[in-house]
Amino acid sequence: MLGALGTGAVSYLTPLAAYAKTPSVIPYGAAVRTDPLYDDPAYKKAILDHCQIIVGEGGLKWIDLRPDRYSFDFTQADRQLAFAQEHGLEMRGHTLAWYAAMPDWTETIASPEEARLELVTHIQTVVGRYKGRISSWDVCNEPIAELPTRDAPIRDSIWLRQLGRDYIELALRTTAEIDPGARLVINDYNFEQANDTGRAKRKAFLDLVRELKAKDVPLHAVGLQGHINARIPIDRPGLTAFVAELDAMGLGVLVTELDVIDDALPAPEAERDAAVADFAKQYLEAIGEACKPEAILTWGISDRFTWVPIWFTRSDGLPNRPLPLDADYQPKPMMQVIKDFARSFDQ
Ligand code: XIL
Repeated sequence: MLGALGTGAVSYLTPLAAYAKTPSVIPYGAAVRTDPLYDDPAYKKAILDHCQIIVGEGGLKWIDLRPDRYSFDFTQADRQLAFAQEHGLEMRGHTLAWYAAMPDWTETIASPEEARLELVTHIQTVVGRYKGRISSWDVCNEPIAELPTRDAPIRDSIWLRQLGRDYIELALRTTAEIDPGARLVINDYNFEQANDTGRAKRKAFLDLVRELKAKDVPLHAVGLQGHINARIPIDRPGLTAFVAELDAMGLGVLVTELDVIDDALPAPEAERDAAVADFAKQYLEAIGEACKPEAILTWGISDRFTWVPIWFTRSDGLPNRPLPLDADYQPKPMMQVIKDFARSFDQ
């Protein structure tokens, strides 16, 4: 099954050992922070006990890789990949073209020619370095506008401003040229929301993907981030129909950044953990009704390290609990939901 994340490279054989350890037919992974992988034995153990895949929470973002226009800093990404290879895990790459986490110098990119040169050089250098070792790339992250409209479906970024929506095609074609064995993914969020945002996001995303397929642009799968906002109900039929359309286009589907934003959920831990698990269950089941996802990754593994409080701190001051393990690395009901879901395809 892990071969579904990429093709052809020897390294894909290794994770099967890890896969055999965890009897799940859908590989599970998590976004990782670099330092605790090496400095925090309990964190390392949690990753090794549960994951077949890792992805850097940072490290391959422009802000981490590109201190200035002329150099690349691969320190974090190299350490993550070394960890993955040492332990027989796959590593996904996140991300090559995104509006956010851009170093300030990119604001000086002032013409289409310059933008094209910067984007292509970046992809050539980064994808070239990790060719055959990073099996799957979030080539474009969050390309759809926050509230997409007919006139402005694509999110503002330096790339959109200078190159128009063709930057997406350029990024995909360049990545495919440099590493033809890599699985190329477009990754985005809020598809599950039962509101205007959810509907508009799904439509704009399908329009984009249809256009890319019609132009024969290399694109193998889509990433549904799954930052589920517990304030907003999940549109199960809407999500299932959306995934079914993607599946019918021949695209793989990955859940790439699952967590449940719990700032508005009740304080008591057991109640909150049950609600978080239920949101994850609803979400995965709605996807599973349309296809079998290629992989499920959560955005972090333990509540000890989560991005959620950056934007969604609780007004009662309690720590967020969005992930499958608690802050002491003990499994919460959400982990069981993921495992049960993965096993439900095992027949
Ligand atoms: C977040 C990281 O988790 C944070 O540590 C960082 O400060 C900001 O970015 N969607 C994405 C991820 O695609 O890259 C974001 O990661 C979370 C939302």
